[in-house]
Amino acid sequence: MIRFANVSKAYLGGKPALQGLSFHLPAGGMTYLTGHSGAGKSTLLKLIMGMERANGGQIWFNGHEITRLSRYELPFLRRQIGMVHQDYRLLSDRSVVDNVALPLIIAGFHPKDAHKYALASLDRVGLRERANHLPAHLSGGEQQRVDIARAVVHKPQLLLADEPTGNLDEKLSLDILGLFEEFNRMGMTVLIATHDLNLIQHKPKPCLVLEQGHLR
Ligand SMILES: Nc1ncnc2c1ncn2[C@@H]1O[C@H](COP(=O)(O)OP(=O)(O)O)[C@@H](O)[C@H]1O
Ligand SMILES: [Mg+2]
Repeated sequence: MIRFANVSKAYLGGKPALQGLSFHLPAGGMTYLTGHSGAGKSTLLKLIMGMERANGGQIWFNGHEITRLSRYELPFLRRQIGMVHQDYRLLSDRSVVDNVALPLIIAGFHPKDAHKYALASLDRVGLRERANHLPAHLSGGEQQRVDIARAVVHKPQLLLADEPTGNLDEKLSLDILGLFEEFNRMGMTVLIATHDLNLIQHKPKPCLVLEQGHLR
């Protein structure tokens, strides 16, 4: 599904964040991306999303070279991808269901349909009964599940997560990883960036390990 060929990224005026990365993520797989803080995990995810541009090499998504996409073609790429953040990024003045529906509204869905699909997505993360609450009324673990519901509401092929358990204790973190595993079993390709090696040491999943911008 995703192929990197000799990909490099350096931010303006900085040392290289990623250097000579080559790997393949098969469709339907679940992979962890690990490495210390500053190793380049977030940068790698941003390259896949088209939020940052590589300085060298090629990245393919389902056979399309996304390193060559124009700004105008990026929305088509992003429609295939869901992204989960460490800090949830929910809008505090909108209900949980409105937060989840927002990507669909932006994509031009009728509000009624967007609402219906958002409720279905909340159901999948076990939060349908909290749909009309404000995010602030929910615990951190619940807010993270709302973020996940929003990330999968458009049924993406690929689900990316950047330190999705960074603000949660161990029990809640394992619950969240369990949710990702469920989406993976349903056919979604999943890539989770985390620096928390303790958390994933018992997970029999493939790992990409970054060390100062290089794959180990
Ligand atoms: N927007 C940016 N501008 C300049 N340097 C950046 C930017 N984002 C990240 N970096 C640098 O790139 C390197 C990799 O960062 P990042 O991808 O955030 O690593 P990680 O997610 O593994 O902690 C670090 O040295 C970081 O300081
Ligand atoms: Mg990061």
